[in-house]
Amino acid sequence: MIGLLAFPYTPPLTASVVASGPAKAISADLFGIFFEDLNYAADGGLYAELVQNRSFEYSSLDRREWNGLTAWTLVKENGGEGRANVRTGSSLHPNNPHYVSVFVEKGSVGLRNDGFDGMVFRKGESYDLSLFTCSFAGKPEAITVRLENEEGTALATTILAAPGDDWSKRTATLSPTADTDEGHLVVMTSGHGATGFDMVSLFPRKTFKGRANGLRADLAQAIADLHPKFVRFPGGCIVHGGWLGLSNLYNWKETIGPVENRRAQPNQWGYHQTVGIGYFEYFQFCEDMGAKPLPVVPAAVSCQNTDYNWGKGQEALPLSEMKAYIQDVLDLVEYANGPANSKWGKLRAAAGHPKPFNLEYLAIGNEEAITPVFEARFKMIHDAVHAKYPKLKLIGTVGPFPGGEDFDSGWKFARKERLGYVDEHYYMPPNWFWDNLRRYDGYNRSEAKIYAGEYAAHETDRGNTLRAALAEAAHLTGLERNGDVVSLSSYAPLLAKEGHTQWRPDLIYFDNREVFPSVNYQVQKLFMQNAGDRSLTSNVEAPSGQLLAHSLVQDSQTGDVIVKLVSRADVPIRTRLDLTVIEGLSNRAARTILTGDPLAQNRFGQAPTVLPRSDEVFLVSGSEVEVPANSLVVLRFKTR
Ligand code: AHR
Repeated sequence: MIGLLAFPYTPPLTASVVASGPAKAISADLFGIFFEDLNYAADGGLYAELVQNRSFEYSSLDRREWNGLTAWTLVKENGGEGRANVRTGSSLHPNNPHYVSVFVEKGSVGLRNDGFDGMVFRKGESYDLSLFTCSFAGKPEAITVRLENEEGTALATTILAAPGDDWSKRTATLSPTADTDEGHLVVMTSGHGATGFDMVSLFPRKTFKGRANGLRADLAQAIADLHPKFVRFPGGCIVHGGWLGLSNLYNWKETIGPVENRRAQPNQWGYHQTVGIGYFEYFQFCEDMGAKPLPVVPAAVSCQNTDYNWGKGQEALPLSEMKAYIQDVLDLVEYANGPANSKWGKLRAAAGHPKPFNLEYLAIGNEEAITPVFEARFKMIHDAVHAKYPKLKLIGTVGPFPGGEDFDSGWKFARKERLGYVDEHYYMPPNWFWDNLRRYDGYNRSEAKIYAGEYAAHETDRGNTLRAALAEAAHLTGLERNGDVVSLSSYAPLLAKEGHTQWRPDLIYFDNREVFPSVNYQVQKLFMQNAGDRSLTSNVEAPSGQLLAHSLVQDSQTGDVIVKLVSRADVPIRTRLDLTVIEGLSNRAARTILTGDPLAQNRFGQAPTVLPRSDEVFLVSGSEVEVPANSLVVLRFKTR
């Protein structure tokens, strides 16, 4: 038992933390991440593809003003005359129906792609180009491809063989002679005739772990540096999409295999999904980070909130289509875990991964309104998956809010169906997190375990303040203390590209050149790097109000004992630590402190103002540690 006393709020504040055991086992997977393609998180973000609208599939369904040539500009050189048209028919693959036909009357005619706000090229680095091309009329000649800077100066050039009568792939590696942050790609053709182009793609060779069709190295590394225990993907609202009519439910099968055969589709956050990061890439990224995959599949109903469905509210898949849909979900499990000679495991092996991905968790649905049509479909999916894969940990949903109608009906349904896990979401003001530090203390341990699947402290102006980050830190101590019932948690959303942000706050901001982790990121990182799998029971007495939150966990692999203290007081709190009951505890601790002005933010484009500072402290039992005003303090002790 730990006793914690905070005294009346007149400086100096004092408190004492007394460990008296015993420890209880807590989830070893408590801290993970939530990835959704909003805020240009995938295309134009984590996905390292530099070409925007590479397959000419953009349309007004993605965004009213977009079309098949969005991000492309017609270029004429050497007295060039001609045109470019987006066409269908004789396409590469039915899932990828559009391509561009460049018709040359005379001279050279081609297209320029400006990427996602320009392309960043670095001198001497390698860039892998690929495109599909086909001759449709006349005698098109060799294709010239250039990487250019913002002034149109060529930094690298390659010549590709003239197109043949069928679609064929051309590849080359280009190495720029100078740096640019505003580069572009130019593809030129000459010779009287019409040349088709599709899947015009350019990747930096240096991707995360050097993967082909890979992820942007710096952004992926910032995520990997968190050391998440799991990754929830692909969303969020992306999962259930905005409507059923055009199959906007996220269909994992259309996101695997050769990228030119995947079905791109509108992104309900108001842009386009190439699904270049598809299920294989998600699984691979998890494995590369040592994180467990936690996919979320649609519960066969659409989002109740979006206006894409013209105010119809939640739409449900017809019951006649449920059998096929359920089979899709079962096939996903086989794709992840089945032997390499199984029908779906074979496709995983063909993609270069014969070994299973060890899928352990699967969520069904994302914060849907809990309606009879939802419940019927959820149950059908859940029961079928559970019957075939009884060891898989299935996660249900209890609506978008931490309380209220859907939350209550979701829980009622979870109890009735004896669900193993439910996904709770809360985007609430910082004070809510402090007021709810004990939210899970009273949860019934014999009911569903909790996945706090989306949460963030929202300031009125949605700023990433230290105050919000500390409210989240305080909340995380509550999750650790209740890690026997809260099994998983993930802050949301993860990524946001400057200039393309639909939702704030986010954990990591970025542009094409740089990555700017928020102060909330620092909190997540400190918790993930200092997680435990045992927690000492705690008893907080705080007569002055909840100014100090704490947790005490142990990592049984290293034996390390970790104390976390979070203060929202605006003066230091002198805290006496009594850890005498813990045997073999070192009298030295690695100490990390995150503190600053509660309204400080680590802003995009600026040097961070709030960063953790680490040192080592000598602490015999009963020593006092100072918890600075507005701070998170992590003390990590070795044990013998
Ligand atoms: O995280 C942003 C959005 O918030 C998610 O897509 C959705 O699940 C929630 O409403």
